[in-house]
Amino acid sequence: MIQLKNLHKSFQNHQVLNGLNLTIPNSKITVIIGRSGEGKSVLLKHLMGLIRPDSGDVVVDGCSIGALDEIELKDFRKRFGMLFQNAALFDSMNIFENIAFPLLEHTPMKPVEIRKRVHEVLELVGLKDVDHKFPSELSGGMRKRAGLARAIALLPQILLYDEPTTGLDPIMTDAIDQLILNTQKKLGITSVVISHDIEATFRIADKVALLHEGRILLEGKEEDFRKSSHPFIRQFLEGRSGGNELD
Ligand SMILES: Nc1ncnc2c1ncn2[C@@H]1O[C@H](COP(=O)(O)OP(=O)(O)OP(=O)(O)O)[C@@H](O)[C@H]1O
Ligand SMILES: [Mg+2]
Repeated sequence: MIQLKNLHKSFQNHQVLNGLNLTIPNSKITVIIGRSGEGKSVLLKHLMGLIRPDSGDVVVDGCSIGALDEIELKDFRKRFGMLFQNAALFDSMNIFENIAFPLLEHTPMKPVEIRKRVHEVLELVGLKDVDHKFPSELSGGMRKRAGLARAIALLPQILLYDEPTTGLDPIMTDAIDQLILNTQKKLGITSVVISHDIEATFRIADKVALLHEGRILLEGKEEDFRKSSHPFIRQFLEGRSGGNELD
């Protein structure tokens, strides 16, 4: 279980997280939603210690990130796989090399074992015959899949997905959502997904948390959101702009 305790984070004078509390259950899919710029990516980066909070703490299975030094933190991060918002593959490496990279860096695995693992995770994400292709030769959806394959190559306990479907067509979006569900089922890992697609969120989430003004405004299941009368939540569910933005 991951606990975010009273997190505060500012950049210069801009307060992004303002006393945020959230519990993320193990072996489930938790989806964090919120408007653009609310701090979803910043929140995700706190989970694996890529960003340190100004105050508050992140506790993962009883281990407090605040207490770790840089060396311990490096080791701690091996529990996580992350699919970054822009997929973040290395353009100068082919797909095989991209996925083998974390295995070469972080494990004593032999080349033959690495080859086997790379092909296992590529199969899991439904990619074939792409070993020698470069990221620029793949479609956006295929790059997301390759990014996911790299994120799971180290068999992490916790997988973080930053907007895995943004910019994809509805069919590819659905395919990636299925992939998140299947990866979850097959590996039994804890998944944290950022989304701003509310309908897709309810399709995959065991738990949903809405980030608003630096805190979690509501956490729960679909019905908790549907029955809420909070004006911002209603507006968010119905996709209304509130009439302010384009006036
Ligand atoms: N390293 C940084 N330095 C300074 N400001 C930052 C940094 N990272 C994020 N911010 C600021 O924090 C705020 C939240 O950014 P974040 O990327 O978390 O938003 P988001 O909710 O992920 O948005 P989107 O849905 O568009 O991805 C923004 O105002 C952003 O400019
Ligand atoms: Mg973001």
